[in-house]
Amino acid sequence: MCVMELGLGQFLREVLVRPHQLGAIVPSSGRLARAMVAPLRYGAHALIVEAGAGTGSITRAILQCLPRHGRLYAFEVNRKFCQYLRKRFADHRLCIVNQPVETMLEILPARPTAIISSLPLMLFPERKRRMYLALFAEVLASSGVYVQFSYRPGLYRLCREYFARVDRRFVIWNLPPAWVWICTKSVNAGGVSVASADIVHLA
Ligand SMILES: C[S@@+](CC[C@H](N)C(=O)[O-])C[C@H]1O[C@@H](n2cnc3c(N)ncnc32)[C@H](O)[C@@H]1O
Repeated sequence: MCVMELGLGQFLREVLVRPHQLGAIVPSSGRLARAMVAPLRYGAHALIVEAGAGTGSITRAILQCLPRHGRLYAFEVNRKFCQYLRKRFADHRLCIVNQPVETMLEILPARPTAIISSLPLMLFPERKRRMYLALFAEVLASSGVYVQFSYRPGLYRLCREYFARVDRRFVIWNLPPAWVWICTKSVNAGGVSVASADIVHLA
């Protein structure tokens, strides 16, 4: 059995035990993972935070583009997923943190240049959604980018309260199809070129 199949089996078992913590029925597709990392412009010393790494679909896409001296801090609350991630990725650039992403201020060596989140925000009450958005906006480097996916479209207005610019993409090739939200603190942040409210089907 290959590593991907093991990851899917592990994911499905955890979905049955902790459906609200996971907020998904299967890991993200390769198309969604690529759409999540597409807005990133990696400097030589990029410091990336992944919130909710799961079994590593998006972790893998980030690592594929990360420069040699870049660092990825992957936060994941599920202990079994962390064990799985450690086996799946032997990579000196990756630090797997078995803690809620809320603790990132205590752990990160500097402000992250990107935050890539799979947290199931739409399942959370508004108060909790706001807590994450406020935290991400506060911690992110001024020229950084925050990327979030959701299975429902209604995140635009809330994200705009915390970020100067919010763009979106739609990824149909995922189960279920998903929206990708690309948020920057500055309207002119470099590297993010998707037109506002532009829906792109990644086929
Ligand atoms: C929708 S799954 C996404 C998993 C993976 N990134 C993917 O795209 O396939 C969300 C993940 O977030 C994790 N999670 C939920 N709350 C978290 C938190 N506060 N901090 C870190 N991880 C969290 C869950 O355990 C779950 O693995």
